[in-house]
Amino acid sequence: MITGASSGIGRGLALEIAARGGHLGLLARREDLLEKIVDEAKKRNVKAVFATADVRDANAVREAANHFRKKLGPIDILIANAGIGTADHAVSLTPEHAATVIGINVLGAVNSVAAVLPEMVERKRGRLVAMSSLAAYRGLAKSAAYCASKAALTAYFESLRIDLRHTGVGVTIIHPGFIKTDLTAGRHAKMPYLMELDDGVRKIVSAIEKEKKIYAFPWQLATIVRSSMLMPAAMYDWIAERNSFRE
Ligand SMILES: NC(=O)c1ccc[n+]([C@@H]2O[C@H](COP(=O)([O-])OP(=O)(O)OC[C@H]3O[C@@H](n4cnc5c(N)ncnc54)[C@H](OP(=O)(O)O)[C@@H]3O)[C@@H](O)[C@H]2O)c1
Repeated sequence: MITGASSGIGRGLALEIAARGGHLGLLARREDLLEKIVDEAKKRNVKAVFATADVRDANAVREAANHFRKKLGPIDILIANAGIGTADHAVSLTPEHAATVIGINVLGAVNSVAAVLPEMVERKRGRLVAMSSLAAYRGLAKSAAYCASKAALTAYFESLRIDLRHTGVGVTIIHPGFIKTDLTAGRHAKMPYLMELDDGVRKIVSAIEKEKKIYAFPWQLATIVRSSMLMPAAMYDWIAERNSFRE
């Protein structure tokens, strides 16, 4: 089950997993795009079904998961990928905007987990995958809501990972850097180590296959970001102000 499957990373993951023989339950809001992906997946001789839902609607997500189960059988892997990326400067950031970002990026994933976890625990097998971001590690300029949402998502899934030890259900948290999708299209600020979608998708599928607990990439940017966690705040602020990834 992949949320946010209609475009970008979600679409790429769907097609890569189909090429490897996996059956697909695809969730997003844009029906026309989902229909096309289902058609493309079926050409690869796998079963694929879609459901339209807003991840903020817990009941709709549960119904979508039930639909996938009915058509395809139990859900082995959830990829909680649906998300939005927005620019927001502290001075213009509204509570409504922050609530939307956190509602989709965090609570959407929470709803998705709730729709699949009881069955996974009962079957003693399954994997929850969170599409977090390198933006989860430290606050970035003009990205308060987005960074907060990804930090929350990572912490949520990390806690789940500990609670689910010895249940047969694993957790993989993905922290991508910049990947060419609609989310990054049209941005003029620098995006170091910007990746082609196919390269990013292959790395993510490989990390899921290897059942990694955390996977941060590309390694160059992941190393820089992780090193920044050791910097004192004054030094970090000086560097982060001069290295905004948002115009
Ligand atoms: N691209 C990057 O550089 C990058 C880096 C790090 C992390 N990420 C994360 O990767 C994930 C996918 O992003 P992307 O780059 O592939 O962007 P994208 O092409 O814009 O895809 C976003 C997906 O999320 C879905 N979505 C958005 N709001 C939704 C909602 N309320 N309910 C259901 N689905 C919703 C969209 O589908 P509908 O509009 O059809 O609903 C779409 O399929 C996001 O969580 C993003 O934060 C991306």
